[in-house]
Amino acid sequence: MNKPLRIGHRGAAGHVLENTLDSIEKAIELRVDYVEIDLRLTRDGHVVVLHDATIDRTTNGHGRIKDLTLAQLKRIKTKDGQHVPTLEEVLKVTDGRVGLMLELKIRGRAKAVTEIVEQSGFSSPVIYASFHHKELARVRQCLSSAKIMPLISHGQIAHGIPAKLSADHVGIRFDRVVKEVVESLHAAGVRVFVFTVNGADDIARMRDIGADGIISDMPADFRMNGTDMTWEMEDGMRQV
Ligand code: G3P
Ligand code: CA
Repeated sequence: MNKPLRIGHRGAAGHVLENTLDSIEKAIELRVDYVEIDLRLTRDGHVVVLHDATIDRTTNGHGRIKDLTLAQLKRIKTKDGQHVPTLEEVLKVTDGRVGLMLELKIRGRAKAVTEIVEQSGFSSPVIYASFHHKELARVRQCLSSAKIMPLISHGQIAHGIPAKLSADHVGIRFDRVVKEVVESLHAAGVRVFVFTVNGADDIARMRDIGADGIISDMPADFRMNGTDMTWEMEDGMRQV
């Protein structure tokens, strides 16, 4: 049976407010292999975990993250009373417990992000993902051993994209993926992750067409009857 990696999207966004420490803890509690988080930058150059360009949707504050300093951001509560974590905080609390899929939402910070990860001594697996494919090329320049994953949500599923980046992973919106796509990418040596897959039926379908990683807001669904994705992690967590 295909045993894809189980990845909690933005932590476990369907269970606890996205991109927060509690959401990440929830995903770990639900025994995901990886947690996906989004990375952005504050005005004073700190890498923080936030999906949107503004803090309006997920916090009680408002404004663009790039206009706020970290000190200002620390005074703002998320809508469930937490705070917007820094990348360093996430590395510290997840080390040795779960892999991280780091989505670079911003351009021009590959060096800073890879340095933070490397200097933290983080020992679990890391995948650098982005829709900004050139930024992933910069990640590779900064860290030759980096695992990179170009993300594709529309347009042609071009096999040339992972090939051009020497990427051995690609992330594709799940409703664009059929078995033939997975098979031809596999034939080219590329592993296929799919996002964002919610509900046991779609999770099972993605598993059955051979997806190598399934990214879901609802990691509890990996454990529902019918998805059959309840195997234990090997050696604490599974490598990519
Ligand atoms: O893993 C890819 C997925 O997270 C990309 O979409 O908008 O949820 O960041 P988004
Ligand atoms: Ca994301």
